[in-house]
Amino acid sequence: MTSVALGANVEADTHEVVTLRSGSLAMRNKANGEVMHPGTGPQVEPRVLYIEPSRLQARLEEQLEAPLVLFDVGLGAASNAMAAWNIAEALGPSARRLHIVSFENDLGSLRLALEHPAAFGLESEAAQAAARALLREGTFETPRTRWELRVGDVQAELGRVAGVKADVVYWDMYSPLHAPELWSSGHFAALHRHCAVGATLHTYSNATAARAALLLAGFFVGTGIETGFKEQTTMAATTLASLVNPLGARWLERLHRSSSPFPVDVPKDEAGRAQAFAAIHAHPQFAAPVTR
Ligand SMILES: C[S@@+](CC[C@H](N)C(=O)[O-])C[C@H]1O[C@@H](n2cnc3c(N)ncnc32)[C@H](O)[C@@H]1O
Repeated sequence: MTSVALGANVEADTHEVVTLRSGSLAMRNKANGEVMHPGTGPQVEPRVLYIEPSRLQARLEEQLEAPLVLFDVGLGAASNAMAAWNIAEALGPSARRLHIVSFENDLGSLRLALEHPAAFGLESEAAQAAARALLREGTFETPRTRWELRVGDVQAELGRVAGVKADVVYWDMYSPLHAPELWSSGHFAALHRHCAVGATLHTYSNATAARAALLLAGFFVGTGIETGFKEQTTMAATTLASLVNPLGARWLERLHRSSSPFPVDVPKDEAGRAQAFAAIHAHPQFAAPVTR
């Protein structure tokens, strides 16, 4: 998430719809200026940053009885979640069901997106019915999908999720610059406890401190794909084998050179930093023979 040069604006409530340089419409939070999907817009970015790297369709087509559980953090204008929902809805009855758990503490952007459905991936009547039911009832179910909305702070809501473990996490929070507390190792540790073995987490951020937070929380961490507007994103997982490009010795060197290597919940004094460096060096990921 970054602020970008913008064209014409249409205002409503806490969010406004803005025009990106590419001509795509996007959602902007009026209080902190952050734009959702600021690079290529909400029609393209969900697929490139989240759907494809998480191999969502292939995982739904695995011959498994259990539904695939997706934690969608945060829901925003629902572009990521709706892209996932559309894939699951289009698959046949032999595919796994998709269970989406969306986390959000401000429903203003989804309400506004429903006024511009084509721009936010909500053009079909079925998609609009799903979004409206989610806003009204907090849940929407079809033979192929179950979608549930948890309204409130993600940390508190995660504590209330019982009996469900995530297979896939789309971590699309406001940026570490504006909301560093959302990228703390404590937050990620709570999330890790709600992840299944083999779960993968996908996020747009490539910040060193965000990656350090994920490692300190117990995740294995790698680079994601290059996206055209961003050199790299981040993919994390509960098992090393699930990563495509694990971070290695070169990243550790970068960590030591970084002016802000750690998340906000690592004490800034010498002892706190030394402890965090030691914990990351002792992480099982760095005992494995990786080269990046
Ligand atoms: C980058 S936007 C999400 C964009 C969304 N994934 C999409 O595809 O449209 C981040 C979202 O996280 C929500 N958020 C921020 N802090 C939160 C918190 N503590 N708990 C729950 N949601 C939060 C914001 O309201 C915002 O809608």
